[in-house]
Amino acid sequence: MNKHIYLALDFPNWEETKQFLDENHLQGIPVKVGMELFYKEGPAVIENLKQDNHPIFLDLKLHDIPTTVMRAMRNISSLGVDITNVHALGGNEMIKFAKEGLTSGSSNYDTKLIAVTILTSMDQNVLNKELRIPGNLEDNAVYFAESAKESGADGVVCSVHEATAIKHACGDSFLTVTPGIRLKEANSNDQKRIATPGFAKENGSDYIVIGRSVTQAENPYEAYQQAVEEWNNGVKG
Ligand code: C5P
Repeated sequence: MNKHIYLALDFPNWEETKQFLDENHLQGIPVKVGMELFYKEGPAVIENLKQDNHPIFLDLKLHDIPTTVMRAMRNISSLGVDITNVHALGGNEMIKFAKEGLTSGSSNYDTKLIAVTILTSMDQNVLNKELRIPGNLEDNAVYFAESAKESGADGVVCSVHEATAIKHACGDSFLTVTPGIRLKEANSNDQKRIATPGFAKENGSDYIVIGRSVTQAENPYEAYQQAVEEWNNGVKG
């Protein structure tokens, strides 16, 4: 197990999730619970994972009016997860309210709030032509990171390719969580801005999120070990 690697549990229900973790001897590793699993199982899935000692990143990417997000975050704070998130595109006030919701909740748990800058499934063309957000993708990601920091976020979700620039702009203690990770030799699925675990570490990622490269591998246990090894060994891995 490696505390810098969050495995994306993109499974349809708890039964399949539990079976996967048990069969592949991955009990207790850091995990990311996203919309698919949470919307099926609700808070019970967090309870179950906590009982098995998994550090948890609850990836629900909230994006709504500030008051609604604050109230939702108050409820999330009671779950006692390690990391949760909002979309930076929700705006500065929404991020401030999200933080307030997390810190004013009943739990004393120190849940980190991170903001999604630009999804790693997007590229320059989508940003400029579809969303009509002008400018360079990396400059936009850095700008969203700076705004998120000013609004009280503890870090961002970003592409590995933007992590160094974000660290430079926001400081070393500002967390960078990077999905879009592929093991050497794996294919990219629908992710456009991808990198290996070693490359991520060398380029300023504090935490990586890895999903299909492990969950859909022929031998998920070995694939997870490969991710750990590539992270530990840097680009040489
Ligand atoms: O399977 P894969 O490694 O691409 O999984 C990536 C995971 O990270 C998915 O659960 C996805 O929702 C999440 N994610 C992402 N890009 C972001 C934020 C989260 O791919 N910007």
